[in-house]
Amino acid sequence: MTTAQTLPVIFIDDAGLAAVGLDPVATAWAAANGFSGQRGRLLAVPDGQGAVAAYLFGTGSAVDRPVLVAGLAAAQLGEGNYRLEGAIDDPTLAALGFNLGAYRFDKYRKAKATPVLADLGVADAAEVARLTKAAYLARDLINTAPNDLGPVAFEREIRAFASARNMTVTAIVGDDLLAANFPMIHAVGRASTEAPRLLDLSWGRSGDPKVTLVGKGVTFDTGGLDIKTAAGMLLMKKDMGGAANVLGLASAIVDAGLRVRLRVLVPVVENSIAGAAFRPGDVLTSRKGLTVEIGNTDAEGRLILADALALADEENPEILLDMATLTGAARVALGPDLPPLYSTDDALARELMTAGLAADDPLWQLPLWSPYDSMMASKIADVNNAGAGGFAGSITAALFLRRFVANAKAWVHLDIYGWAPEARAGRPLGGTDQGIRAVYNVLKQRFPA
Ligand code: BES
Ligand code: MN
Ligand code: ZN
Repeated sequence: MTTAQTLPVIFIDDAGLAAVGLDPVATAWAAANGFSGQRGRLLAVPDGQGAVAAYLFGTGSAVDRPVLVAGLAAAQLGEGNYRLEGAIDDPTLAALGFNLGAYRFDKYRKAKATPVLADLGVADAAEVARLTKAAYLARDLINTAPNDLGPVAFEREIRAFASARNMTVTAIVGDDLLAANFPMIHAVGRASTEAPRLLDLSWGRSGDPKVTLVGKGVTFDTGGLDIKTAAGMLLMKKDMGGAANVLGLASAIVDAGLRVRLRVLVPVVENSIAGAAFRPGDVLTSRKGLTVEIGNTDAEGRLILADALALADEENPEILLDMATLTGAARVALGPDLPPLYSTDDALARELMTAGLAADDPLWQLPLWSPYDSMMASKIADVNNAGAGGFAGSITAALFLRRFVANAKAWVHLDIYGWAPEARAGRPLGGTDQGIRAVYNVLKQRFPA
């Protein structure tokens, strides 16, 4: 689309209107409306006929400007085709911020037209498109109601995802999980009317470094027999947020053609209540052979991840990375917007934190604090799935997972929240992507196309 067909959104920072060379009429209009580039403020400028000639958009001062500040403009603009001008720090991040802020989830209501960035100027259009697609995919999956995304439907979505990207896909479903030695995935999911399953996707050229992603795919978490409260259960459709985000990440990796051999493992289960449910006190033998006493059926995510991580670990990946809405404690420790990151490789952890901050996709390293391993001691099995005492819940969950990883060169675990409880720049309220851009940017540096 040419510039003549798009409406300009003119970014104005604390250097003011003069810095972007605004004409005298627009400058006077801005002054008359008290507009001086305040962060997030959007002001329409009329042409001589009373139509909108342009929008002025304030981005405030650099010290407290979100990287995706453009998302605040998109969240306020109506239907139309736009282009970005003026005081823009990074055109690609501005375009991406705009798109991420324009996201709406309209599956269950009449769709409202959203603003379209129709002219990307000098932004890297391919990168903007792939990262927009990745985030939208993760958000759509998380936002979808749990009656529309049970284990059967989620497998269908994952198969469609894989075939659209020429990824090979296999599924192990129901009792076949027992035969194939995934006892904990089976135990967690067997009470649901929709059988548990493990989806296994692969892509890439032989010889490239193996990167394996694992995502928690609990399509709904009632807590099991250790049932959650009503308030605690309300948002549990998002308990497949780890799976949604590794799929978004995989989409970006494949689309960019990064030089990796990618594997994506998604254990998909519903943690339901029925006669067949696993119980507190049960002892499960995991794929790895470790026995796990069930202290709490609501600590189900670590069980399904443990079997999937053990499988991934069997082929010694270069990087093994999992994402999971694993603990309520993560949100208590760092809040909903800053997922805890754990890693056996401190250099990789630092790279991820740095990349995350630069991309407005922050992650914060917490320690794999070995002394807390004893909090999950069992009197009768190798380990208990729930820590005693209620201390350090995100750390103890990470330590539980670590027991199932031995051969991967580097292992990373992100304890994500997967939900934006309030709208922020580039992050509308609701299901949200976390970790995709941080991890993608590090992989892109390490394994460029
Ligand atoms: N899916 C939840 C964790 C969760 C809860 C994430 C709320 C985000 C928001 C997980 O399966 C769970 O229930 N974890 C328990 C573990 C506990 C029983 C050891 C938790 O965090 O309370
Ligand atoms: Mn749970
Ligand atoms: Zn859960």
